Amino acid sequence: MKRQTAILGAPGAGKGTQAQQVCAQLNLEHLSTGDLLRAAVAAGSSAGLQAKNFMDAGNLVPDEVVFGVLFERLGNESSRTAKSDGYMLDGFPRNRVQAEELDRRLSEAAPSSQAQTLDVVVDICVPDERIVARLTGRRICKGCGRNYHVEFVKPKQDGVCDDCGGELYQRSDDTESVVMERLSVYHEQTAPLEVYYKEQGILVTVDGDRAVETVTQAVLDALSGNNVAGLS
Ligand code: AP5
Repeated sequence: MKRQTAILGAPGAGKGTQAQQVCAQLNLEHLSTGDLLRAAVAAGSSAGLQAKNFMDAGNLVPDEVVFGVLFERLGNESSRTAKSDGYMLDGFPRNRVQAEELDRRLSEAAPSSQAQTLDVVVDICVPDERIVARLTGRRICKGCGRNYHVEFVKPKQDGVCDDCGGELYQRSDDTESVVMERLSVYHEQTAPLEVYYKEQGILVTVDGDRAVETVTQAVLDALSGNNVAGLS
């Protein structure tokens, strides 16, 4: 049985960092809607053209555009990582409409046609005051996408990826003003999903304000079935 999981959290909470680690260890496919949308922008596709201005401003891209890029990828087995044991969604869902659409599609795809949800949703929690420093200092590898930080997660050589030797760059939406807007959108539209998944009994909350390796272990524990909390 393939795992269907998601990682939630504020911008800069460490979703991408943790998903990269955990997916490599558990052989899961890492599906980041932010990455899919940035690839669409870079390719100049219709979805990318529709998404660009929303992303630059730190706002959510319209649901239909996001569904297009994500569900095309999810439904296309040949484009998926060979022999993965499932997937981890990163940055999706971002609001109630997206969460309900995902559940509807999971149920439709289930063999028994019974209501189906994700297996586990991991919610990485980091106080807002940590977020701006994390994001304005973030650097990403152009080659393999690995995340670094100029202070907290340094590469061995400045500006160069430890894994593939690729050049590190800064995302255009990692400026302080856009980060503040992304945080405000998160609190208004995404944070309420904690209740949605708690009601389904599949939410695990992880303290993300600790060393990267400590958080990774907590996420692995969460995925192994420990600490899943129902509505309290
Ligand atoms: P997206 O790419 O999803 O961005 P985000 O949610 O804002 O999250 P980030 O990628 O910025 O942060 P992260 O949590 O992955 O943190 P990271 O691990 O990199 O979305 C971008 C845009 O696309 C959105 O604004 C929206 O416009 C659009 N979009 C995407 N999905 C959408 C959807 N479903 N619907 C509508 N629109 C959508 O870590 C951050 C930094 O902190 C790094 O430098 C890292 O090295 C460092 N760090 C990580 N962990 C630690 C730690 N434990 N201690 C110290 N530093 C750490």
